[in-house]
Amino acid sequence: MNAIISATAHYAPKKVLTNHDLEKIMDTTDEWIKSRTGIHQRHIIGENEATSDICTHIGRDLLEKANLKPDDIDIIIVSTVTPDMLAPSTAAIVQNNLGANRAWGFDLSAACSGFLYGLETGAKFVESGQYKRVMVIGVDAMSTILDYEDRNTSVLFGDGGGGVILESTESDFGILDSILRMDGSGGKYLQMPAGGSRMPATIETVENKMHYLKQDGRTVFKFAVKGMADVSAKMLEKHQLTGDDIALFIPHQANKRIIDAAANRCNISKDKVLINIQKYGNTTAGTIAIGLNEAVEQGRLKEGDYLLLAAFGAGWTWGSMLIKWGNPS
Ligand code: UT7
Repeated sequence: MNAIISATAHYAPKKVLTNHDLEKIMDTTDEWIKSRTGIHQRHIIGENEATSDICTHIGRDLLEKANLKPDDIDIIIVSTVTPDMLAPSTAAIVQNNLGANRAWGFDLSAACSGFLYGLETGAKFVESGQYKRVMVIGVDAMSTILDYEDRNTSVLFGDGGGGVILESTESDFGILDSILRMDGSGGKYLQMPAGGSRMPATIETVENKMHYLKQDGRTVFKFAVKGMADVSAKMLEKHQLTGDDIALFIPHQANKRIIDAAANRCNISKDKVLINIQKYGNTTAGTIAIGLNEAVEQGRLKEGDYLLLAAFGAGWTWGSMLIKWGNPS
């Protein structure tokens, strides 16, 4: 039994923050951001919006596209590092919003690798034969944990997400393989220090801006290029494929220069690499899921195509996934 993607969807909040908007609130330029990252703009949530609202848009769209009723969903997995709150899970809020009364579910925390970890987890439920349909959403509202006085970090991220319905198939289409990795020794280079059990919220933690994302950009850059390229190359080698055999490569969108370097290492030509970082920035667990739905909407995937996904993020966490694209029917 394989797990197949039977529907895709994405949602980006309406509000757009351009590089020119950022020029007005911090010492940066449109030119610097574009040339160093490839980002032109990002979407951010409005005052009364939260991560679960993005998920609910995605979930409704998925149900409609897959022609399913809410009760058809068995499990909801929401991969995110910006849940609405620590408890209950965002998955539970989404389950209620969708009226998916039969579903159980949980949030999964793997930062920028969250969607890949979520896909792998969801696929195993479906492949076991015990569950028929799993909704996997990769989403983040990064604007809620950014310090807009820190130009090193805040210009990179945006809000949004995407999702899929996973169903079982006896065909040889679907998720073929994944290589997932984690190295906790990298945790200090990209983290939000306060707000958990190590450093609960106090007046001091707020005053010291410890509830914002902190990163050592250069170190993250170095590990991201190596991590994404290594697992992607390994995946190709394992399946005796070359970059030419891949119809589409959807890498995590953290920096256009990281994407170019990883694609180069795997000899995947530019026309086969999905890049949408210019529109959304880095939406953490959202990037690959958004890219996947855009690829489907743009007709960039046809039956039998090999699709390669790759991610790298805080943890460190990273991985790649090989999918043979096809329809479940
Ligand atoms: O999903 C994982 C999440 N994080 C990432 O993927 C981040 C990975 N890292 C990166 O993408 C890059 O390292 C950055 C985009 C963060 C930085 O690019 P860089 O080419 O590594 O620049 P840098 O850190 O070496 O900084 C070069 C200069 C510095 O000025 P000085 O010291 O040379 O005078 C920075 O202060 O650029 C300055 N700088 C900026 N200037 C204008 C840093 N951020 C900005 C900014 N606007 N927003």
